[in-house]
Amino acid sequence: MARPLTATIDLNAVLHNYRYAKKLHPTCKAFAVVKSNAYGHGAIKVALHLDNEADAFAVAAIEEAIALREAGVVSPIMLLEGVFEADEWELCEKHGFWSAIENDLQLNWLVSSKAKIEKVFVKLDTGMHRLGVNKDEASILVETLRKSGQADEVLLMTHFACADDLSDITTMNQLTYFEKARYEIGVIEASVANSAAIMKWSVPEGGWIRPGIMLYGISPFAGLTGQALGLAPVMTLSSKVISVRSLKKGDKVGYALSYEAMGDHQLATVAVGYGDGYPRHAKDGTPLVLNGFPAQLAGRVSMDMITVRLTNSDQSLEIGQDAILWGGDMPVENVADFAGTIGYELVTRMTSRPHYRYITDFELK
Ligand SMILES: Cc1ncc(COP(=O)(O)O)c(C=O)c1O
Repeated sequence: MARPLTATIDLNAVLHNYRYAKKLHPTCKAFAVVKSNAYGHGAIKVALHLDNEADAFAVAAIEEAIALREAGVVSPIMLLEGVFEADEWELCEKHGFWSAIENDLQLNWLVSSKAKIEKVFVKLDTGMHRLGVNKDEASILVETLRKSGQADEVLLMTHFACADDLSDITTMNQLTYFEKARYEIGVIEASVANSAAIMKWSVPEGGWIRPGIMLYGISPFAGLTGQALGLAPVMTLSSKVISVRSLKKGDKVGYALSYEAMGDHQLATVAVGYGDGYPRHAKDGTPLVLNGFPAQLAGRVSMDMITVRLTNSDQSLEIGQDAILWGGDMPVENVADFAGTIGYELVTRMTSRPHYRYITDFELK
């Protein structure tokens, strides 16, 4: 007997979504972005499943890259933020990692280390003002790298601040600055596009796209689900009813007794809570599916449990019935809306407590 909460991850859906990203930009190669434990989906499982197909992987830090190599991932792995300490460059050479360089210090460490790196991506700050250098500084970085002979290839990359907002012209301004810099500096290959840009903006031909959230079937756009964008859902978070009671009108439920029954109805307790990654800030009324019927959260989320009621059905509730918290036809984006957050956060902050089950047993064409 085990607690019934399970995150089922469809690895074939990840592969489908990776192929979909590449189909949208057939002249580009694609990093599969698997940082932060593949957005909560299990970086090693995801990367091993894509290893024969992905052009390369991208992570945020060298520890994440080393964990993938040690697990047997053979494709190139790129450090999106570069190194954080000087001695990481030797490890990059040893493991064949590629890296971004976003400041002079990272460059100086590389030059002192004498490490040889296959691809270095100079990060241009085109307006997000989080990482990277302006185009004059980028030009010097590129020249120094080329002179050093330590990078087989120097590329130019940037990151968009507002690509998820289709009415915001910032993305076009960033692209214009980027292309001007690329032309002036004389760098051939570019990497600019995250999922939102891959799906909705025009990006430079060739070079490298960087799909992250779309690999996991989740939309980067407010008001649009992954399924509406043609993505295959990847994670299903499911559990079971562990207790049932009948409430009378006026009965109150849970911490702070914040839910009050407006009429007589049944109430089910489901095994999932914020200790598993289900958002504590999910509001009363957050949707889920209970025994195949629409249902909603009633009251506050506890660490290990939630209390729920059917939305408009008088089906009888029983211990052992299935609950789908998100996945399939219950988009995680909708749950995120009710918790005042985004789908990215819900999946990424899943804890290790649910059982994780991986579907790998058929090949998608
Ligand atoms: C530099 C960089 N590229 C690509 C991505 C992937 O973005 P998304 O998950 O929106 O596709 C990220 C994610 O934050 C990133 O930091």
